[in-house]
Amino acid sequence: MNLATRYLGLDLKNPLVVSASPLALDLGNSRRLEDCGAAAIVLPSIFQEDIENEIDEIERLVCEGNSEAFSYFPANISANAGPKNYLELIRRTRDALEIPVIASLNGTTRTGWTDYATQIEQAGANAIELNVYLLPTDIELTGTEVEARYLAILDAVKETVSIPVSMKLSPYFSSVGNMVKSLDQAGVDGVVLFNRFYQPDIDLEELKLVRDLKLSHKGEIRLPLLWIATLAGKIKASIAASSGVQTAAEVVKYLFVGADVVMTTSALMRHGIDYMKTLHDGLIAELKEREADSVADIRGRMSRGATSDLAAFDRVNYIRILRGGAYNA
Ligand SMILES: Cc1cc2nc3c(=O)[nH]c(=O)nc-3n(C[C@H](O)[C@H](O)[C@H](O)COP(=O)(O)O)c2cc1C
Repeated sequence: MNLATRYLGLDLKNPLVVSASPLALDLGNSRRLEDCGAAAIVLPSIFQEDIENEIDEIERLVCEGNSEAFSYFPANISANAGPKNYLELIRRTRDALEIPVIASLNGTTRTGWTDYATQIEQAGANAIELNVYLLPTDIELTGTEVEARYLAILDAVKETVSIPVSMKLSPYFSSVGNMVKSLDQAGVDGVVLFNRFYQPDIDLEELKLVRDLKLSHKGEIRLPLLWIATLAGKIKASIAASSGVQTAAEVVKYLFVGADVVMTTSALMRHGIDYMKTLHDGLIAELKEREADSVADIRGRMSRGATSDLAAFDRVNYIRILRGGAYNA
């Protein structure tokens, strides 16, 4: 069975990638994930706020003329600014694993942190995943401005590094496809569809906001499925599916609509990291069942460009469902 795929210009042994999460903070976990079949690992995000705080702290110490503290920091401040621990995590993970290690940079503005990308590259990351977790709660901010922000951040990071750069996007654009197309034209190496925004709930007993993060369920593949099916074959950038993978069935569905890789976190957190092997073996079983010899045999076969049932993706089907009652309880 040939499971090989390419993502961000990297050759991967299969399409199973561990998405960004604290799982990869532990080197033992990362090694085990590789042994169980993971083809690449995305490290948890380093946040713009982490980077800027450390820069602020260094600047404060310098401005106050704290000579002891100053001597503690090497002479070239900008070259050494930013959380060292994250760079150390990159180095250690790269040293311990054969598979590619992707660093995740999470920020919302162009300035102040993008040169940290250079340090990520120097630490040995094989690629950078940019997560622009921008919740436009400022209602003065227009959609056009939000889109421009994504493009400006991509531009700044692409100027800084020569390793591949992907972007993890939310589904909340007026025209998701056009946003991806703009990023593609701007040279993004891959898109990760989609990011899940943290959304608070209300505890009615205590009357306070609930700030937890729910693990995903398999119904969440439907939105990324729709957009991956729409974009497959239309952009140069690689496509990573992210959200809702619980079993190998979701992995195969994502491949059918054209994903180059399929990412997972919730399933690993729910069932333990050895569950990567279940997904890996399940993928092989699913392919055999369909008499496919490789991932390439099924990839994109049900994308918009390939399926004969185009109406299933479209408004016309929505009208049919509403009129015909084809809904599940
Ligand atoms: C506990 C936890 C921590 C996460 N941390 C990050 C992170 O640091 N950066 C990021 O881009 N995504 C992060 N995510 C999102 C995941 O990478 C992934 O995109 C999301 O959980 C959807 O995939 P899933 O359905 O396979 O869980 C986190 C998710 C969870 C559950």
